[in-house]
Amino acid sequence: MNQIIKAQCLVLLILSVLNAVVSWAYLDYEAPCSPSDTENVCDPSKFLKCIDNTCLCNGTMVWDVKNVERCGLKLGQVCPIYPSFRGPFCYGTAVCKESDGHLQQGICTCVSPDEPSPNGEYCIHLAHNVGEYCTQHYVTCSTTDRLICSGTQCTCESGWLVNGTVCMAGFNSTCKVGSELPIETCRSNNLLKCNPETERCECSRGTDHIWHENTKICLTKAGATCEHDDFHHYECIEKASCRTGPNGLGRICTCNKYHHPSPDGTECVQDPVERILAPGELCDPENLVEVCNYAKDNVCSCPNKNFTCSCDCEKPFLINSKGECPAGFEAPCENLPNSPINLTCNEEAYLKCHQIGENSTCGCDSPLSQFYDRVLKTCQLRVGQECDPSPDKISCPETSICRKTDGDITRCWCEHSYKPSEDERRCYYTYSATQLPHGAACQEWNYLEFCPKSWNLFCVNGTCQCPEVAAEAVTDHIRGDIDIVG
Ligand SMILES: *[C@@H]1O[C@H](CO)[C@@H](O)[C@H](O)[C@H]1NC(C)=O
Ligand SMILES: *[C@@H]1O[C@H](CO)[C@@H](O)[C@H](O)[C@H]1NC(C)=O
Ligand SMILES: *[C@@H]1O[C@H](CO)[C@@H](O)[C@H](O)[C@H]1NC(C)=O
Ligand SMILES: *[C@@H]1O[C@H](CO)[C@@H](O)[C@H](O)[C@H]1NC(C)=O
Ligand SMILES: *[C@@H]1O[C@H](CO)[C@@H](O)[C@H](O)[C@H]1NC(C)=O
Ligand SMILES: *[C@@H]1O[C@H](CO)[C@@H](O)[C@H](O)[C@H]1NC(C)=O
Ligand SMILES: *[C@@H]1O[C@H](CO)[C@@H](O)[C@H](O)[C@H]1NC(C)=O
Repeated sequence: MNQIIKAQCLVLLILSVLNAVVSWAYLDYEAPCSPSDTENVCDPSKFLKCIDNTCLCNGTMVWDVKNVERCGLKLGQVCPIYPSFRGPFCYGTAVCKESDGHLQQGICTCVSPDEPSPNGEYCIHLAHNVGEYCTQHYVTCSTTDRLICSGTQCTCESGWLVNGTVCMAGFNSTCKVGSELPIETCRSNNLLKCNPETERCECSRGTDHIWHENTKICLTKAGATCEHDDFHHYECIEKASCRTGPNGLGRICTCNKYHHPSPDGTECVQDPVERILAPGELCDPENLVEVCNYAKDNVCSCPNKNFTCSCDCEKPFLINSKGECPAGFEAPCENLPNSPINLTCNEEAYLKCHQIGENSTCGCDSPLSQFYDRVLKTCQLRVGQECDPSPDKISCPETSICRKTDGDITRCWCEHSYKPSEDERRCYYTYSATQLPHGAACQEWNYLEFCPKSWNLFCVNGTCQCPEVAAEAVTDHIRGDIDIVG
């Protein structure tokens, strides 16, 4: 016997798994369908049929929202008793009752106190419990039990609180002291009690307590005594905690840091902002009175959790000198006529909006002449590119200088003994540079062949020479050095 049950469970499991895998390929209730379409068919596990080019239940059935949405058999229809998991099932609260000694099939029947509806197709059902389905034909939620139909299920009407399957009186709802009925009993778990004079539920601690509608519980006001010095025990009003009082005796609901109690103690009000921090200034995300400039979209950014935080723009925005947050490198930007995003690239970082395919993103000018430096957060010229040394113009990489080279053109150029890296993003030291001797022809900008300053030689008028100011003695001394090396 046990084996059979196990086997049945296994079959059920396999079927439900198969169903879950396969059913999304089927058409759902009320989906358009075609009887000639063999690939897109109405979901057979929901007993749907293609009727008038729509997936519907056939005449003996009706769409049922109970548990799993599917077609349910009307009252009086033949229903399968075995195998019990296969269905179709009786609609609503009707049950499949054995008839005429049939072991495998029965008839959909109403169970008392339910009665058949006037048209004989459904059971009239009055739902007394929270969670019962209520969108079926002839099902109503019991109003005397303070139930209403919300969505597809019965729930407690406003002012009453769910307790298991029943409704209990909530704040300011009518109650009777000593009543056995849940609807007349204040829900004590929410710290409510029945006032015998007004016959309404009120907070159990009188004026020290205030009803909090969102969490549906009575909370202790700021300044009133409390019991539980427990972070997770929400006893005090929002933004307050139960702390040891100033005299060290007893505990009092005290507003949290950067908050002060309202005159009646019913809420903790945030202290006014005392200072708006400048971009780049250190900040503390917990500090509510010294804050970053939220009006300019600045946030208190802590790139590494433990490290210090500072006022910055959120990624992918990039702060500018005015403290504003325009779009940063690779951020989406304006450019498209119907784009939902309207952003300007950070011009101070020399970012421009480029359209790539359907999207626009901020990037540097031509990738051949510029690149984005992620540390300095700006576009830079590549080594060898023409440059303008003015401070408001795009600069050369840090390892290079903007200088006159051949002719009158200024370029990002390497210093003597350094040469451009392959990607032209920096200059690096090279041992292969040639140090020219005194009197040799030179070009001041040639980083691979130059007059070595360490020997006090300078490229003057195209020749490696000693500086005019240099004394003859020094020249002799240096010439001696050159002879040794040369
Ligand atoms: C309706 O569908 C059920 C299950 O698919 C089937 O057993 C029944 O015979 C159908 N009834 C009619 C009237 O087509
Ligand atoms: C309680 O309900 C009554 C009647 O609906 C209303 O007049 C009264 O203002 C309510 N009291 C509170 C504290 O909400
Ligand atoms: C909620 O219902 C349970 C029984 O299901 C009962 O023991 C309990 O007292 C009820 N809660 C309140 C707050 O009355
Ligand atoms: C970060 O802070 C936590 C606790 O504050 C500490 O245990 C951890 O060692 C810190 N890590 C670093 C890298 O400082
Ligand atoms: C986008 O920005 C431009 C210039 O700032 C402005 O004229 C335009 O109205 C903005 N469009 C949207 C949709 O916000
Ligand atoms: C454009 O942006 C959207 C949303 O960010 C993204 O899903 C899509 O792949 C992008 N298309 C291209 C061509 O980059
Ligand atoms: C450079 O050469 C020119 C002519 O060849 C000469 O007039 C000038 O004085 C020289 N300058 C220096 C600094 O030697």
